[in-house]
Order: sequence, then structure tokens, then C-alpha cells
Amino acid sequence: MTHVFHRDPRLKYPVAVRGEGPYLLDREGKRYLDASGGAAVSCLGHSDAAVIAAVQRQLQTLPFAHTSFFTNEPMEALADALIARAPKSFDKVYFVSGGSEAMEAALKLARQYFVEKGEPQRAHVIGRRQSYHGNTLGALAVGGNQWRRKQFEPLLIGATHVSPCYAYRGKQPGESDGDYGERLARELEGEFLRLNPQTVIAFVAETVAGATLGAVPPVPGYFKRVRDVCDRYGVLLILDEVMCGMGRCGTLWTFEQEGVVPDLVAVAKGLGAGYQAIGALLVSKQISDTIQQGSGFFQHGHTYIGHAAACAGALAVQKRLHDDGVLARVNPLGQALERRLRHQFGEHPHVGDIRGRGLFRGLELVEDRAKKKPFDPKLRMHARVKRKAMQAGLMCYPMGGTIDGVQGDHVLLAPPFIVNETQLDELVDKLSIAIDTLQEETI
Ligand SMILES: Cc1ncc(COP(=O)(O)O)c(C=O)c1O
Repeated sequence: MTHVFHRDPRLKYPVAVRGEGPYLLDREGKRYLDASGGAAVSCLGHSDAAVIAAVQRQLQTLPFAHTSFFTNEPMEALADALIARAPKSFDKVYFVSGGSEAMEAALKLARQYFVEKGEPQRAHVIGRRQSYHGNTLGALAVGGNQWRRKQFEPLLIGATHVSPCYAYRGKQPGESDGDYGERLARELEGEFLRLNPQTVIAFVAETVAGATLGAVPPVPGYFKRVRDVCDRYGVLLILDEVMCGMGRCGTLWTFEQEGVVPDLVAVAKGLGAGYQAIGALLVSKQISDTIQQGSGFFQHGHTYIGHAAACAGALAVQKRLHDDGVLARVNPLGQALERRLRHQFGEHPHVGDIRGRGLFRGLELVEDRAKKKPFDPKLRMHARVKRKAMQAGLMCYPMGGTIDGVQGDHVLLAPPFIVNETQLDELVDKLSIAIDTLQEETI
């Protein structure tokens, strides 16, 4: 009997009692290799002594001071650390408590920017289908995850959506990456023109699409074309790196790899690495100056923004990434993981696509590989894989509705940056057990 309103009240969850590096242990002593960082959160594993000590120190001196009265040292230091490593156009950081809050702040700040700039007619936000930006109403509206949105549609602001950059299914036979990116950029421009570009606030996208599509990187040049289209019409580019950022794809900012700089970028998950609940919105100088020289006040805020202990934890995470070389592990380990995945599943009859970057990888599951035919959604293959993986002592992040919110299944992998190659072997062995369940189910 539980009084907790669990995510799925029909399930009986094991009780997590302890973390040890990349493993979580339940009350019965069973060990689970965390191959998904929960949901791409725990980039330093579950027992990082330096981060724990930093949070403890902060709690002993100053746990919390409301930001309408004070600033605090860890918040200032964390903002400095993030801005020092961001492109020059960024000047300010707005701290929040998670990814949805970071995206809500982005949407409101983008709107307020245009109001203060004397363009109050700008009212539309464009997102992409099969994207996810959070579960609060604004973020949910901009996201294109049909399954998550459907029953809340009457409450959502009227954002519109264009195609995701999803080469495995979206690219036409014989189409080059360049032509595909160009076609998508033209589709975006078409949406601007349909709405009247003077009324568009922003285009919102995950740099590498995360949980909804399953670690799908953009084709080369896609974001450059998108940036050009946005610039042509004075529309802001908001990138959501809540899941794919903070080193998960091999560089601190994933947009670095695309050769573009957004106007606003949201991060969370890996920022606090699970040791604290924190998110952040990086704000370009142009936007922050416009507000400062205008009303002087961003009309937003939550009680826990800039929480001192959360910022101290996130600052310690940054030190681990940069000073202790943890970030530099991501690309070589990512390649080692990719090699193993391709070796194990490259010819697997039910793995249609293996994709991703760094330690952010996705496998798309199919009934028929040659035809890219998805499984019947009624079979809920993603749920079966998750159940089997947990039985085998592996946390991975399978999802359904990959293609259109109903059809398609994938498995997302986002292991901690501290895993070693033996643990990658364990990951692939256990994942293989979980994925082979598909074979049994289809016989
Ligand atoms: C890309 C992306 N944006 C936003 C969010 C929302 O973050 P949170 O769950 O911390 O509110 C998520 C969460 O999975 C995400 O993956």
C-alpha cells in the first residue's frame, strides 16, 4: 500500500536505496546498471564524492536565500562558469529548477523581448513534430509529442509544428543530406510565410532529438539553414538542450557541433547530474540588453530559482566535467559504445537504426528491418523491452510512438560519463537479452 501518486500507479516499483558509480541498488540488493542516466540525467553516476561534498558544504553555510532579496555566491559562480564556456553572444543565465521550467522561461522571455522591442504583434511559436520540451502547458504546447499532448489540447497555446529532422524515415530515397536539410528549411520558411513572418516569435528545436524520437542527430547543415531562415525574418532560434546538452553528445553545448549559435538555449538534466534539481536558460546579450534597457524586469520567476545548494551542486558538476577531464571521456566512450552496438545489433532483424552522438544513443526497433516496418503498437514492445531489461539489471529508456506518437518503438541509451569499457560490455550484453525478447514475442 502506498500513498504516493506514482507515475504508473499500476506498477510495483523496486525501492532504490543506494547509488554506486553507474549502478543503482534496490532494497533487495539487486544492482542495476544505469545505461540511461535515468532520463539522461546522471552523467556522473550516483555517488560522486566531490559533488556531494559541495552540496553538503553549501547546505551547512547557506541552503537558500530568496532571489528577490539576495543573490548568492554559487549562483554567481555558476553563471560565470557557463558564460565563460558559451559563445560570446551569450551574457546572462536565468536559473530554474528543471527542463520544463527552462523552456517556459525561454518562451516567456522570447515573447517579452519582442514586446519590449516594439513588435508586440509577434505571437506565434513554431516547434517540430515528435519533439518534447516538457510537461508544463507552454512547453507541452510547443512540443510535438502527440501522445503527451493529446488529452490536454484544449488547454494548450496554439503553437504550430513542422517536420523533425529524422533522416531514417524522413529522407527520401536518393535524397542527399544537403537536399533533405534544404527541404526542411524550406518547409520552415513556408510556415513562417503562412503565419506571416512578422508575427512569429521563435522556432524551437532539440539540437539532437531526445526521448520522443530516440537520439536523432540533425543531418549536417540542417541547423545552419534553419538559422538562416530565422535570421531572414528576425525570428529567434531557441534550442532545447535539456537532454542532449551539458556534454552528453561530446561537447558542452551540442549546437557547437552544428556551427550555429541560438538566441536562447535551455539546459537541465546533466547540469545538476541528478544531485540537485536545476535547469538554466542562457540568454543572448541582445535579449538581456533589450529587457534591461526596456522595462528592466523579466516578468517571471519561481520561488526556487537560483537555489544556492542547487547551484553549488551544478558548479561542482562543471568542475568535474572540465577540471577532472570527465567531459573528455564522452567521445571516446561514445565511439566504444557505438562499436559495440553496431557489432551486436548491426544486423539484428529487429533493430532498424542505430544512431546518436557521444553517450547519447538510440536504437529504433522494427518488426521488419528491410521494410522499416514498425511493430504493431498494441504489442507495446518498448514496455516489454524495459521490463526485460530491468529484470536483467539494466536501466535503459525505451519509448513508443517514435514515428507519429502511435507507431514505432525505440530504446534510448545515455550512460554516465564515468562508465568503463567493461561496463559497456555489460550494458550491451544485458540490452541484448532485453531486445531478444522481441524475437520471442514475434514467433
Ligand atoms: C528535451 C527536453 N526538454 C525538456 C524536458 C523537460 O525537463 P523536466 O522533466 O526536467 O521538466 C525534457 C525532459 O525529458 C527533455 O528531454
